[in-house]
Amino acid sequence: MNYEYILVKEQVAPYIALIQLNRPKELNALNLQLMGEVREALKSLDDNDAVRVIIITGNERAFAAGADIKQMSDKNAIDMLKIDQFSTWDQIKKTKKPIIAAVSGFALGGGCELVMHCDCVVASETAQFGQPEIKIGVMPGAGGTQRLPRAVGKALAMEMVLTGDFISAERALAAGLINKIVPVEVLMEETIRMAKAMAKNSPIALQMAKESVLKSFENSLTEGLYFERKNFYMLFATEDQKEGMAAFVNKRKPDFKGR
Ligand code: HXC
Repeated sequence: MNYEYILVKEQVAPYIALIQLNRPKELNALNLQLMGEVREALKSLDDNDAVRVIIITGNERAFAAGADIKQMSDKNAIDMLKIDQFSTWDQIKKTKKPIIAAVSGFALGGGCELVMHCDCVVASETAQFGQPEIKIGVMPGAGGTQRLPRAVGKALAMEMVLTGDFISAERALAAGLINKIVPVEVLMEETIRMAKAMAKNSPIALQMAKESVLKSFENSLTEGLYFERKNFYMLFATEDQKEGMAAFVNKRKPDFKGR
């Protein structure tokens, strides 16, 4: 596929793919085409058996400074309704494989929301997170008011959404929005290290486990436990379960085939 606003590497390391947002002059502002390209790339990597984990990154200055304000500025409510940009985000949400965000610089508005669509987040010391939509007369629209309180709790989510102020990587780590902070020079190396720790596991188990954790945000505890149990039982239908347990018993490394 030829993309204009993203760069895609299918094998940045064995079983690990990379999507890099690539509109550097606009701080990776997420215009409609860019988001459509992210959706297409995720779908194609999700369908590719040679990929087990996907990394999304930006550049040193910005992961993404939000939706493209210039593209939205003259739109009315009916335009926005017809454009229906959130169906793209709904597709992104359906990605089955684990996604890790590697964040340096600004992750604002839709940029912060894209980070929250990912499953884990490795950030550089320079990363800043924010939902500044309130400062331009609107509010988050790609899940910020729903995912942020689930990630950081009500108090900080309210503060971020109502003031529009950014938080540092340290505060984001303390609040539970991100997994770790690393020096900017080793951001990709450290993200790949985390991706490798996932990718060496059974891809079917990865998918079932991701799906089950995400269900915890949708269901009651009883329904969630029921869902988890079904996925747990289902994994006993895989060759990977036989391989993983045999490898443990025989004190060797497992070789998972995704079957
Ligand atoms: C369009 C943007 C942009 C954005 C930056 N740029 N953010 N263009 N949409 N969201 C452009 C600037 O216009 C400028 O282009 C260039 O990128 C560099 O930005 P500067 O502002 O000159 O850089 P700096 O002074 O360092 O300030 C960085 C910044 C600021 C603090 C990140 O750019 C900023 O506040 N950006 C907007 C952040 C924001 O409000 N995001 C939420 C958007 S709404 P030129 O051509 O002038 O050099 C949203 C809704 C989500 O995300 C829901 C739907 C998905």
